[in-house]
Amino acid sequence: MSRSRVLRSLAIFLAMVLIVAACGGDDETTDTTAAASDTTAGGEAQQVEVFSWWTGGGEAAGLDAMIEVFAGTDPDVEFVNSAVAGGAGTNARAVLASRLQANDPPDSWQGHAGQELIGTYVAADQIEPLNFLYEEMGWLDVMPETLIPLISDGDNIYSVPVNIHRANVLWTNPTVLTDNGIDVPETLDDFFAAMDALQAAGMDAPLAMGEQWTSMHLLETIMLASMGADGWNGLWDGSVAWDSAEVTQALEDFAKALSYTNSDASALSWQDAGQLVLDGDAAFNIMGDWQEGFFRELGKEPTTDYGWAPVPGTGGLFQFLSDSFVLAKNAPHRDAAIAWLKVAGSLEGQDAFNPVKGSIPARNDGDRSLYGEYLLSAMDDWASNTVVGSLTHGVVANDSWKSEIDTALGLFLVDGDVAAFQTALVAAAAASG
Ligand code: GAL
Repeated sequence: MSRSRVLRSLAIFLAMVLIVAACGGDDETTDTTAAASDTTAGGEAQQVEVFSWWTGGGEAAGLDAMIEVFAGTDPDVEFVNSAVAGGAGTNARAVLASRLQANDPPDSWQGHAGQELIGTYVAADQIEPLNFLYEEMGWLDVMPETLIPLISDGDNIYSVPVNIHRANVLWTNPTVLTDNGIDVPETLDDFFAAMDALQAAGMDAPLAMGEQWTSMHLLETIMLASMGADGWNGLWDGSVAWDSAEVTQALEDFAKALSYTNSDASALSWQDAGQLVLDGDAAFNIMGDWQEGFFRELGKEPTTDYGWAPVPGTGGLFQFLSDSFVLAKNAPHRDAAIAWLKVAGSLEGQDAFNPVKGSIPARNDGDRSLYGEYLLSAMDDWASNTVVGSLTHGVVANDSWKSEIDTALGLFLVDGDVAAFQTALVAAAAASG
């Protein structure tokens, strides 16, 4: 065959594949296919493939606790745990993106409520609306009203939130603070003064930090401290300009905070950074409350081995994120995936998962007696504080905006040039905001 005939045949073949794929895209066809693959004629076990980045440090244990509930409700379904290691999903999300591109979705995956979900998976038409589940399970009565818009596009609801995490937490080593006569700082100025004192006493890096995403986490909490809730929210709804003086001040505060961090940060995970605090090699770490799940897994005692407070300057503010699970469009095991989502949204599932994970249930009817001292304080703050969204964990910006901010941040971590950083952030907002 000549080269052009080969190419033409290939084109015709590809066109046919696309037509067949398109015909298979409607929900009814999906149902039938999924049902057929869930229970094979030979009576083989069904399975569900669930994708997340919970592989260690309290996170895997939390997931295991929910899998155990699932094993009780759906004993015939094999749970295929496709978790990919790496904090904040940096690695996992890259793997997921290539699987989605190759049309090889896991049945259900972890996605953050907010723009990560709506501006990424919904925008790309990769997940199914779940209104039918919300109706069947009565979830609208138990999920926070404020969360529903963040997982919805128009009238369609797209995910099942399993938890609420708090991003703006300062973890402390109480012994280090007492030994140095330092009170838990409540303002940014007190925070910097405390770290000056610790450095003067010989602690090189009082603020423990890890790899790059943890510096974005630090950035968002310091910006919130510096700008307040209205300033922070305004960056995402367009009412505050990225080239304003308050952003300059917030970035200078961030630069100052960075000056107290360990020089090997880029080589450390978030757990490593937490460990520095536990070991007394650092006094502070700013991290989401999954850090408490890690501390508890290590058998550490709240208030004696570690303490907590809102990030200085953010008292009364709760910077939140929510892990949720989705249903893939054309899920290979749709029925089993729905069974998994029912557990993820259930009281039993959430009360098994969250006390171990270090988060509070997304549902508002969790059993308080199951939660430790820190999580009870988080529940109270969630109910009473001003709630704002996280950047690093998907609430306020979609993937493309976040990744431009991340690129600018990467350069800033190297050159420390506040003006250039701000210019890059202005450009990112203009391009993707
Ligand atoms: C967040 C996620 C948390 C926790 C954390 C560290 O993005 O929402 O559940 O997994 O990353 O890996």
